[in-house]
Amino acid sequence: MKKSVLTAAFAAALALGIGGSIAQETAPAGDPLLDTVNARKALMSQIDMELGEMEAQIAEGTFDPLIAYERGAGIAAMMRAFQLLFPAETNYLAEDEEPEVATSADPKIWAEFERFSELATTAAQQADEASFAEDLAALTPAVTALRASCESCHADFLDYRPPTF
Ligand code: HEC
Repeated sequence: MKKSVLTAAFAAALALGIGGSIAQETAPAGDPLLDTVNARKALMSQIDMELGEMEAQIAEGTFDPLIAYERGAGIAAMMRAFQLLFPAETNYLAEDEEPEVATSADPKIWAEFERFSELATTAAQQADEASFAEDLAALTPAVTALRASCESCHADFLDYRPPTF
């Protein structure tokens, strides 16, 4: 009897040991789900900064085609990557009133993922449009339309509105 308990414990320890070494080889450092939430938030913050730079050009009446091109193309690439960072396991607000992970991603994202993804793709296309602008007259409507897309998605898919930028 005692022997079989010990054997079971040994087998469990062995299994854990093997499991541990497999996990070490395949899992990235840190918590991949937390990293995913942080990555999508970091993309949003960077997008916000780059859109702000284009809006500053419009406000100041200056135009630098290289800035418009780089910021527009950067936002477009980030918007396309952003929508890939919503695995179902990161729907932290679905049940939890006070989730351990800081996120404002509304559970509606997962219920209406197609619409969410279309909004992100539209924003990416508007950013492409801004990147092609050859003067302020072309940049202004593209940037205005892009800003409206930010606000429209946040109105529908954030559990609270982020501060107005
Ligand atoms: C398709 C929907 C969608 C679009 C379009 C969108 N956002 Fe967001 N945004 C989100 C979601 C969802 C979050 C919350 C992410 C989280 O907390 O997990 C967010 C969060 C943010 C945040 C807070 C990031 C943080 O550190 O918590 C900022 C800033 C932001 N967005 C700016 C923008 C700007 C600027 C644009 C337009 C260029 C934009 N967003 C377009 C959905 C969108």
